[in-house]
Amino acid sequence: MTCIELNEISFSYIAGRKGIFSNLSLKLNPNEQIAIVGRNGSGKTTLAKLIIGMLKPSKGQISFDGKLIEKKSIAEIAENVGYVFQNPNIMLFTNSVENELSLSLQRFNFTKDEKEEKVNSMLDFFGMTKYRKVHPRLLSRGEKQKLALATVLIQDPGAIILDEPFSGIDIAQKIIIRNYIQKLKDQKKLVIIITHDLDSVLEESNRVIALSAGKIVFDGEKTDFFKDSTNLRKAGLTETYMLNMLYSLHAEGLPETILKRNELINFFSKRISDT
Ligand SMILES: Nc1ncnc2c1ncn2[C@@H]1O[C@H](COP(=O)(O)OP(=O)(O)OP(=O)(O)O)[C@@H](O)[C@H]1O
Ligand SMILES: [Mg+2]
Repeated sequence: MTCIELNEISFSYIAGRKGIFSNLSLKLNPNEQIAIVGRNGSGKTTLAKLIIGMLKPSKGQISFDGKLIEKKSIAEIAENVGYVFQNPNIMLFTNSVENELSLSLQRFNFTKDEKEEKVNSMLDFFGMTKYRKVHPRLLSRGEKQKLALATVLIQDPGAIILDEPFSGIDIAQKIIIRNYIQKLKDQKKLVIIITHDLDSVLEESNRVIALSAGKIVFDGEKTDFFKDSTNLRKAGLTETYMLNMLYSLHAEGLPETILKRNELINFFSKRISDT
């Protein structure tokens, strides 16, 4: 389990220019399910790359469990936080799906049998056993996304950042990914999902951080974020079909805490059976 802390960090892609982040502070705690939302270019991916040490802040510090990340080795960082890139292509290097997964286990001292068991169970969970000998480049967008995710999950990091895990993914694959996210939550891991998909935020998260041009315009409970459309506007986001329906129902008296599909179904099922 990992606690991530950013202390007054500033960052610019072009040295000396006004950057995307200025004095940004954040604390991300174990057992939180965080959604980072915001328009294109608001800084979500940059924030993730700073957290994993791929980019260095020009000012301020980032620490995991109180230890500065610059004092950590690459292996230690990977142990603390796994990052699944927005573009899965840049995560895949080998000539087969199974090699991709074994490569992720290279730095561990597992026996050959243990490694094989871990690879097999990942392939099985993601329904990819039939692709084990296939070249990753030949996979579909959704399969690549799942493989990229599996290469990080197989390392069992304390916290995980998923950058747009649902983009280009059909419902069936989305359910598989969601099931794994649920497993991580059950293990009380810090799960950070960067997404444009507000419906998945309704389902997956309990804390929402909204970015707009590198500024945090909202950080708090999901129920507060979605209370009305004010926070969406601040983040430059628009209501989805599901949100519009929820807002109409909230106006008619549905409790505002009801935001998930299952909660909605349970509420109305009870009403129907009571009448
Ligand atoms: N390598 C880079 N060099 C210079 N500017 C960059 C670089 N990468 C990103 N930027 C700029 O930094 C800002 C934040 O980009 P970032 O990729 O973090 O946004 P994002 O919120 O992840 O967007 P999206 O939703 O499109 O993925 C944008 O203005 C972007 O153009
Ligand atoms: Mg991005």
